[in-house]
Order: sequence, then C-alpha cells, then structure tokens
Amino acid sequence: MRTSLIVAGLSASLAHAIYLPANLQTGVDWLQGSTQQPVIEAEKFLIELAPGDTRLVTEDEKWQLRRDGKSFFDITGLPERDASIHTQATVKYPKKTAYNETISPMLKELDQKKMRSHLEEFTSFHTRYYKSDYGRQSSEWLFDQVNQTLTHAGAGVAHFFQHSWGQNSIIATLPGKSEKTIVIGAHQDSINLFLPSILAAPGADDDGSGTVTILEALRVLLQDKDILHGKAENTVEFHWYSAEEGGLLGSQAIFSAYEKQGRDVKAMLQQDMTGYTHATIAAGEPESVGVITDFVDPGLTTFIKEVVNTYCTIPYVETKCGYACSDHASASKHGYPSAFVIESDFKYSDKKIHTTEDKVEYLDFKHMLQHARLTLGLAYELAFAKFD
Ligand code: BES
Ligand code: ZN
Repeated sequence: MRTSLIVAGLSASLAHAIYLPANLQTGVDWLQGSTQQPVIEAEKFLIELAPGDTRLVTEDEKWQLRRDGKSFFDITGLPERDASIHTQATVKYPKKTAYNETISPMLKELDQKKMRSHLEEFTSFHTRYYKSDYGRQSSEWLFDQVNQTLTHAGAGVAHFFQHSWGQNSIIATLPGKSEKTIVIGAHQDSINLFLPSILAAPGADDDGSGTVTILEALRVLLQDKDILHGKAENTVEFHWYSAEEGGLLGSQAIFSAYEKQGRDVKAMLQQDMTGYTHATIAAGEPESVGVITDFVDPGLTTFIKEVVNTYCTIPYVETKCGYACSDHASASKHGYPSAFVIESDFKYSDKKIHTTEDKVEYLDFKHMLQHARLTLGLAYELAFAKFD
C-alpha cells in the first residue's frame, strides 16, 4: 500500500536534505513544476506499533519514532493478511536437555578469536544500512564467510534470499532427516539513526555481535558427524536478516514466504546484541544472559532457560524488550514459535547502538562466547528433538 503525499514547501527536517547528493535524498522526490513553487513528494510507509495500531508515516518520521525509542513492523506493501498476527502453533519442547555428553566437548571448540576477527572485518564497512551499497557489499562479504564455513565442513548450502532494496538476507541450511526446521537468526544490517545514508554505523553490538555469534556456533555445530551427514531428526537453518532496522523487513519477507510455502518451523531463536556487559558490571550485578519474556513463545523460552543452565557458565535474567523489537517477532507473526535472548537485563544493554560509537572496542568477547554456547546447545538439542 504505497501512497504519496504532496507537501508544499520544505519541512525543517527536510531542509538540509536538499544540500545532500540526490542519491541520499531517500524517499524525497522533487516534482518539477515549471513556474510553480517546488513541491516535495514524500513516500509514505505503513507501520504497526502494536497489534492493530497502524500509522502512515514518512521515512523521516520513521527514524524520528526510532530515535524516540518506538519499535514497529514496517508493513508497507504487504497483503492485508500478512499484516496481522496469525494463529500460533503450539509445539512441545523437551523438559530437560538430553545431549550434554556430546555437546560439552563441542563447547570447548568455540573460539572468541574467530568471533573477534570476523567482527573486526564486518564493522570495517562504513555502514551496513540496508539501502546503501556498503550494505550490499557487507552482505556479500558475510555470504563468503558463511560459504567458507560450509565448504570447509563439507556440508550444508547457503543462499541469498533476495530483496528489492539492495542488501539480501542469507540462509544456511543443514538438512536433517525431516523438513521440520529449527531457525537460528541474527540481523546483518546496521543503522545510524541520525543520518542513515551518510553517517557511519559500525553496528558492532547491534547486531554484528549476534551475526558472528551464530556464525561461530554454525562452525562448531558442523563438527558433529551426525549433523554433517544429515542424521539429525530436523533441519537446522541459520539466518542473517537484512533490514531489521527498517522495521523487520527482511525477516518478514522470509517468514511470510515460509508460511505461504507451508514450511514447518518448530522454533526460532534470535541473537541480537550479545557483547556488551559494562553497564551490568558497573551496577555491581552478575554477568548474565537476558532472556526476553514478552512477545515470545513461553514453552520455547522455558527450554532456553534450561539450555542456559546446562551449557552456559553464567546465569540468565528475565527481561523485556517490547513489541516487534527484533526479528523473532516476524517468526511469531507468521505463526512460528520464537524466542529472543540479549546481552543483559534490558536496562543495562548497550546505549551506543545506532550511532558511530557502536564499536568493537566496547564489547566483551567472553560474554559473546556464552551466547555462542547457548546457540550451539539449543541448535543441537532441538536438531535431535522428536516433534509431533
Ligand atoms: N537490537 C535492537 C533491539 C534491542 C535494543 C535489543 C536493546 C536489546 C536491547 C534492534 O536492532 C532495534 O533497534 N530494534 C528496534 C525495532 C526495529 C523493528 C526497528 C527497536 O527496538 O526500537
Ligand atoms: Zn538496532
């Protein structure tokens, strides 16, 4: 549902846009009236801030809402039935973890140095803004890393899930005995909420950290012979979403397609921000994994707490993130059970995100390793779980 609005004159926030190169005036087109005053046609976007609470806004208004701390799905152009929450599948998860003997030695293989070097390269792109050419390049770099990981192991396939905006999402598939699927996700894009098309957005924590965390878990998961030879009960997929920062655009496209194809996703876990611990430590609180409890599947979340207790060496703390705060929300919206874990209690999470200061130097790789342990533990446990 793309609509446009003719705005006469210049609004304060658009005034500086005319001094920018044309390709940076995102969503703003000059209408060439021969003798008339210039008019601006601003593209409008349909966003959903809470179930059923939709609003039509300009792109500038989108970023203003984000700066004000509001989260939303961008549902522009989506068919009506895609826009609303769908019936939720009820899936039964194991009561306890069952593969401790196999997983414990694998945990030792997880390597923080690999996460650091991946993250250093990934954050060296000026931005990973989904509409920018840098964002397209960072996506290609990431695709190469995923492919190298699979090729080195000799299993799995990676493909781009293509989008219209330039940066594509990436999916790595490890086929199992059935098409029942476990999804592990992170978002690859970053954003500078002040001037997305211009300013640097290293996005080290948000969500470079989740990106390299799940890549490292994938590398080690592939060292298991049964996973390697397709003997797991279920298929496991790793997703790196594009355009999370635009309103969950990449993940909505993927889970909408999965729903249409009748794909059977039994669980989805999102890792978004896994590396920042300073505020927790400064407050004298114990380093912990933040388990999100709002807008998630309660059964999957209960099992994730078991996984933290078994495979991490730090505790979890329950916390909340609000409606549509990361890509797990897209999975839920399309009927798939999802969960979300973050670096800490929400109140101690990284406040430098979405700025030029979201840098590697502020992150704690030992903590990221805890998220990799959790990811590997969950992926393995659910890969071998028997679902109805
Ligand atoms: N990584 C953040 C969400 C987040 C923030 C998680 C702080 C944990 C702690 C994510 O990339 C983000 O910015 N989400 C937006 C919503 C999105 C749909 C535009 C938000 O929460 O405002
Ligand atoms: Zn973000």
